[in-house]
Amino acid sequence: MSGEAGRPKFSGKFGMIMVAAGSAVGLGNLWRFPYLAHEHGGGLFLLVYIVLVVSFGFTLMITEMAIGRRTGKSCIGAVMELSKKHKWLGWLMILPPALVVPYYCVIGGWVTNYAFQYGTGSGAALTDPDYFETFITCSGDILNNPITWFVVFAVITFYIVSRGLEKGIEKSGKILMPLLLIIMAFLLIYTFTIPGVMGSVGEYLNFDYSKFSMDTVIDAAGQMFYSMSLAMGIMVTYGSYTNRDVHLESSVKQISILDTGVAMLAGLLIVPSVMALGGGVVNSGPGLMFETMPLVFGSIAFGDIIAFAFFALVFIAALTSSMSLMEVLVAAMSDHVGWSRAVARKRASFLALVLILIVGLPSCLGYGPLEAVQVAGMTILDFFDFASNTVILPLVAICTCLFISFVVGTDAIVEEVEINGRFKRKKMYLVMIKVVCPILLALILIFGVVDVFGIDIF
Ligand code: PHE
Repeated sequence: MSGEAGRPKFSGKFGMIMVAAGSAVGLGNLWRFPYLAHEHGGGLFLLVYIVLVVSFGFTLMITEMAIGRRTGKSCIGAVMELSKKHKWLGWLMILPPALVVPYYCVIGGWVTNYAFQYGTGSGAALTDPDYFETFITCSGDILNNPITWFVVFAVITFYIVSRGLEKGIEKSGKILMPLLLIIMAFLLIYTFTIPGVMGSVGEYLNFDYSKFSMDTVIDAAGQMFYSMSLAMGIMVTYGSYTNRDVHLESSVKQISILDTGVAMLAGLLIVPSVMALGGGVVNSGPGLMFETMPLVFGSIAFGDIIAFAFFALVFIAALTSSMSLMEVLVAAMSDHVGWSRAVARKRASFLALVLILIVGLPSCLGYGPLEAVQVAGMTILDFFDFASNTVILPLVAICTCLFISFVVGTDAIVEEVEINGRFKRKKMYLVMIKVVCPILLALILIFGVVDVFGIDIF
C-alpha cells in the first residue's frame, strides 16, 4: 500500500509536530484542564492524567497516524483501503469534525472579540460582570456581536486552510505554535510576580487524596481523549501527510509532551491567579475564560496588555485547532469528489466554510434569539458538544480499536511504526489497543451520557 501520487506532504518533522500539536493544544487545554485539575485533587489529577497520556492517548494517537501514513489517504479513503466493507467507519470519523468545527468557530469568535477589545484599548468594558451576557445574547452593537466574530474567525480559518498544506497550515503552525509558547512563558513569569499569586500555587499542585475517586480517572481519560484531538480523523489525515522518514513513536511522544505541558502550565497560570485575585472560584468553560479572567486582569498592573496577550494565546490555540478540524473535511472532500488537485482545495475549503456558517449560526444565536430552542434540555451549542464529544467520539474510537485489532490486524500498525526504528512500547501498545482502550472508552461513553442526564451510578 502506498501513498497516493501527488499527495501533499509536510516538509519535515518540525512542521508535522507543530501542526499536530497545534490541533491538540486548544480550548480544552486552557479552559477545561485547569478546572478539572483543581476539582479533582490537584497534583493527583496531574499524575493520573500523565499516566493516561503515555498509555491510552499514546496508543490511540499512534494508531491513527499509522493508518493515515500507511494508506496515504484521509479518513474515508484510508478505511476503505484497509477494508472496503468497513467504509462506514471512515464516514463516521468525519461526522465529529463536521459537528464540532461550526461551534468551535462560534467560541473562537468570542475569543477573537476579547483579543480585539483588549488589543484596541476597550478592555475596561469587559470587566463589567454583565458584558459577556450582553455579548453572547446578541444584545450589543455590530462590534460586540457574536455573529460578526464568528464569521471573522471562520473566514480566517478558511483563508489558512484554502492556502494549502505547506503554505497555509504548516506555515501557520510553525509560526503560531512557537509564538504560543513564548506568550505562555511571558504570562507565567509576569503572573508569578503579582503579590499573592505565588502563595496560591500550592492549591493547584497539592495532592488532595480526599478528592480522588473513579470519577477522577474517567474525567481525566475523557479530557485527555478530547485534548489529544483523537477520533476526529485529524491524526489520520495528518498521518497521511507525513513522510516515511519521520519516526512516528517519537513524534507522538513530542506531541503529547507539548499538549500536556501546555495544559499543565495553563493550570499553573489560571488556578493560582483566580484563587488570589478572581474571587477564588475556579469555574469551568466560558465562565472562567470570559467572566473570571477579565476580573483578574482588571485588578492587576498593565492588566489590558496582559489580557491581550492572554486572549492572543487562546486565539492561537483555538485557530490551530479549528484549522485541523476544517482540514479533515477538506481532505475528505478533495480525495473523494474527483476534482483535480488544482481546484479541489479551494472548492472544498469554500464548501466547508459554507457548512460552518450554516450549521454554526444556530449555535451562535442559541444564547440570544434562539434561547428558547433546547435540544434534550441543552442549548444548541451544548447539544452539538454533547452529541459529538460525549457520544460519537468514544464510539468512533472504540470502533477504531476493534477495527485494527480484529479486522486489519495490529501487525499493519506495528509494521508502519517500525519502518524507521524499533517500536519501543510495542508490548504495551498491543495490550492497550486490544483490551484496555476499548474498556476505558466504553466507560467514558457510559459515564458521559449518564452524567449529562443526571443519573447517579455510584
Ligand atoms: N484538542 C482540542 C482542545 O484541546 C480540541 C479539539 C478536538 C480540536 C478535536 C480539534 C479537534 O481544545
